[in-house]
Amino acid sequence: MLQGKRLLLVIGGGIAAYKSLDLIRRLKERGAAVRVVMTSAAQHFVTPLAAGALSHDRVFTELFDREAEQDIGHIRLSREADLLIVAPATADLMAKMAHGLADDLASAVLLANTRPILLAPAMNPAMWANPATRRNAAQLAADGVRFVGPNAGAMAERGEDGAGRMAEPLEIVAAVEALLAAGGPLTGRHVLVTSGPTHEPIDPVRYIANRSSGKQGHAIAAAAARAGARVTLVSGPVNLPDPFGVEMRRVESARDMLAAVEAALPADIAIFAAAVADWRAASEAPEKMKKDGGALPPLALTENPDILATIAHRQAGRPRLVIGFAAETQNVVAYAQAKRARKGCDWIVANDVSARSGIPGGVMGGDSNEVHLITAEGVEAWPPASKAEVAERLIARIAAALGAKESE
Ligand code: CTP
Repeated sequence: MLQGKRLLLVIGGGIAAYKSLDLIRRLKERGAAVRVVMTSAAQHFVTPLAAGALSHDRVFTELFDREAEQDIGHIRLSREADLLIVAPATADLMAKMAHGLADDLASAVLLANTRPILLAPAMNPAMWANPATRRNAAQLAADGVRFVGPNAGAMAERGEDGAGRMAEPLEIVAAVEALLAAGGPLTGRHVLVTSGPTHEPIDPVRYIANRSSGKQGHAIAAAAARAGARVTLVSGPVNLPDPFGVEMRRVESARDMLAAVEAALPADIAIFAAAVADWRAASEAPEKMKKDGGALPPLALTENPDILATIAHRQAGRPRLVIGFAAETQNVVAYAQAKRARKGCDWIVANDVSARSGIPGGVMGGDSNEVHLITAEGVEAWPPASKAEVAERLIARIAAALGAKESE
């Protein structure tokens, strides 16, 4: 995805700078040319030698560097890049950018820049929450700067946690890919994706759920965004970071999910990867159910709306391509073909979720998947792959199918 792209990485002075070395490696692996500028504070954490060894280029550190000004200079440094990444973006660097200061090479490059800028903030949670940083972040967002992270979690300092951890290198890579995707094969399309499980309340503290992790649905949403689409991701409760550049709609129950899906229409493409609970409690107890004596509480169930079938059978405003998933434990292809007809969708992505599937760690919750794509034309067996690869392949297949429809 990044073949031939020229990226300028500004490394600020924070402990997360060590992750920026890995970021350089990840960007290079994807074919990007990476040039690095380091602030003087950054050099307390990682060395220009390490950054240069990974980027295969000299590292720029000084504003008034005779040699560099003659051969390249801070104006050219920023102009020659397709995108600038600031990682870690410290509170100090953000403040300088928000106010247009330019007293060192990093800030001068950022001020002279005319390209898109992606910031990966990293700082102590109190610094991130400070009203001054809030103002600077809002100003930078208003100026068109894009953000990835920060994430919540434990900090390097003992006993500190909260929002302030730098996004992981692969999250930053995904953000870079999404930002550079304008002009990608799904530009101008709206893609709607459902993901994760649903939680169906029994009483205020208990619910019915399933083992879906949301990994496949989230990977599809991220891949669609990287292909240039506007993406709405309607997700049940999951333990995953939001994919970059995606509009999130968080829901709990199947009925909430249906309402959020209907509210997000119109869409060109709808992909239903969520593992929606088929049933919910017929009535939700308003108070916590108590163990009073021997009798077990009855749990009557009722059927949830079928979100995929509802959208696929719409007369007006049906997305052009409606794609469902089928998780089967036997007769995978035959059952999935019947499901495609019954639910009225265009394609079904079928997977074998049985213990026999041979997928290490299992499909539910695991990182790999082996699927069949079932369309009106037939059945394609895809090789075993990571969920991210399945997502990429599905998005490429969708882009090709829409392109073919358009030229008919
Ligand atoms: N789905 C949905 N709403 C539901 C149930 C399922 O949108 N209430 C969607 C899922 O997101 C998936 C597809 O339907 O894309 C297949 O779901 P699955 O649970 O496998 O199908 P069922 O209709 O439950 O069929 P069966 O239980 O017979 O396998």
